[in-house]
Amino acid sequence: MIAPSILSADFARLAEATESVRGADWLHVDVMDGHFVPNLTIGLPVVEALLATTDIPLDCHLMIDDPDRWAVGYAEAGAYNVTVHVEAAEDPVRIAKDLRSAGAKAGLSVKPDTPLEPYVELLGHYDTLLVMSVEPGFGGQEFIPDVLDKVRLARDHELKVLIEIDGGINLDTIEQAAEAGVDCFVAGSAVYGADDPAKAVERLRARAAREEPRES
Ligand code: DX5
Ligand code: ZN
Repeated sequence: MIAPSILSADFARLAEATESVRGADWLHVDVMDGHFVPNLTIGLPVVEALLATTDIPLDCHLMIDDPDRWAVGYAEAGAYNVTVHVEAAEDPVRIAKDLRSAGAKAGLSVKPDTPLEPYVELLGHYDTLLVMSVEPGFGGQEFIPDVLDKVRLARDHELKVLIEIDGGINLDTIEQAAEAGVDCFVAGSAVYGADDPAKAVERLRARAAREEPRES
């Protein structure tokens, strides 16, 4: 699956940005609060506007403090998957329950330096795992290959979560991520920096699929 990140799109033309990637599986929306990360983007009102504009399921990545308070609103609005950061969550089990009760998938994200092992049991409450492959906050950064060990760890534990990777995914890096066992690839600059975003999505999908199927 490919999830274009609208962080790299023109924020004054978001409806066109969703149209331009019509074949995408999910649309990745980076919510940043200027506290958890040193950048400020968009919040719930813009997500609600996007939900009214597109049929592509929204994948909301909340890079915010106090997700215990704010995350459920995105689920109630109709986001398909709502991801919170384990580093910011006070009661991640409660958050997952709230998200699921509100009808969304529950996602948990780890920053590049956050180990996964302590959270393996916690992931039993979650539907998706978002492995950050850059420091959260900005698009267009370089892929950190070491984080693929966490993807392999999740696979080794046979966790039932869908595994996403986010940051620095492009035609050069997507194959190694696919090989490690990633299910869904977030790509910002590689999609919206291309002349034809829809074609960029197709090319990324084809490149990821070229890997041999996993053995498990
Ligand atoms: C970074 C965001 C990413 C970002 C990825 O904090 O979470 O979703 O948009 O952008 P690229 O694909 O350009 O690294
Ligand atoms: Zn993201």
